[in-house]
Amino acid sequence: MIKSTPPMGWNSWNTFGNDIHEQMIFETADVLADSGLAAKGYEYLVIDDCWSLKERDAAGRLVADPVKFPHGMKAVADYVHSKGLKFGMYSCAGNLTCAGYPGSFEHEFIDAETFASWGVDFLKYDYCYHSPIIPGQYLYRRMGLALENCGRDILFSACSWGVDETHEWIKTTGASMWRSTGDIADSWESVKNLAKQQERLHPYLGHGCFNDMDMLIVGMYGKGNVALTGCTDTQYKTHFSLWAFLSSPLMIGCDIRHMSQATRQILTNDEIIRINQDPACRQPFKLTSFWSGDDVLNYARHLDGGDIAIGFFNLNDHPATARVNLDEMGLPHSTGKTLAMKELWTGEQFTVTNSTIIKDLAPCDCAVYRARIIDQP
Ligand code: GLA
Repeated sequence: MIKSTPPMGWNSWNTFGNDIHEQMIFETADVLADSGLAAKGYEYLVIDDCWSLKERDAAGRLVADPVKFPHGMKAVADYVHSKGLKFGMYSCAGNLTCAGYPGSFEHEFIDAETFASWGVDFLKYDYCYHSPIIPGQYLYRRMGLALENCGRDILFSACSWGVDETHEWIKTTGASMWRSTGDIADSWESVKNLAKQQERLHPYLGHGCFNDMDMLIVGMYGKGNVALTGCTDTQYKTHFSLWAFLSSPLMIGCDIRHMSQATRQILTNDEIIRINQDPACRQPFKLTSFWSGDDVLNYARHLDGGDIAIGFFNLNDHPATARVNLDEMGLPHSTGKTLAMKELWTGEQFTVTNSTIIKDLAPCDCAVYRARIIDQP
């Protein structure tokens, strides 16, 4: 299955870990559908690890845990579909999943058939307990082929954390997204680390196969399975803006049944989502930041139709100033053009003079612009 813009949805892992059950999934489906999140594009509801029994059945098939999912997985899929959403599940290229449940190694085709028979639309495929002998690309190609031949359109979400040079082979496997980072935790340190880990991998993202920087921690506030210190709303806003700007899939990880107003506002910013979902899916590029230091990340991205997205991300715990020149974006003064800027969180608008943008940023804050090319005044 080819997905032409970054997938969006919700995943159970960050908040619930092993503590998943049918009722929580149904309630989450209700909130996704009824709160307006689905209308913003969050369409996949994904159950991560820990959903199955520890043993396969006599025919070698995976079995949903009847205590957690008393009506079976098909009933869960049917409920999710009845809400106009798509349904995602999880397995692993190894013998076991990361949490120790059966993995799909040597069962790839039968598992793909099982997922198809339940009505699954998305498969996250992890990399724990994999063979030390068989190369990762062989394992992901197996499941990629199994999914393509299972009779149902299932989005393949690879999760080998960027190890074993995943970027070199992932597009050969049929994956529509691939985890290009280690696991996220609910802390500002984690956000900073993942953003920096990602920089060398920007050339690999693009149409049909997106670098997945891991599920969002927006709105977790230090509670749940991957909780650490938690973040402030400003830090969550910057985290969301970075992931969106860098074309990461946007998979919500908080308990949306109890989301705060601030969380909702962050997750539903139309203009930021529009940058994430830009049909051109062009590679972001880093802008020189020697005036501001390594912890102010300045990026730009040419958008479909000719606009430019420009983002300044202050990873410091103190104020900082971003300064960039339009030359790097392909717009030197000699072109006679400049930019009409609109900031997408505040609505602030201005025209760039002297080919330079200077922006003061509060600690941990960001500014994200959609810029339109105009004649110099
Ligand atoms: C790995 C993945 C996580 C999550 C867990 C489940 O750590 O990277 O995203 O799926 O496994 O056990």
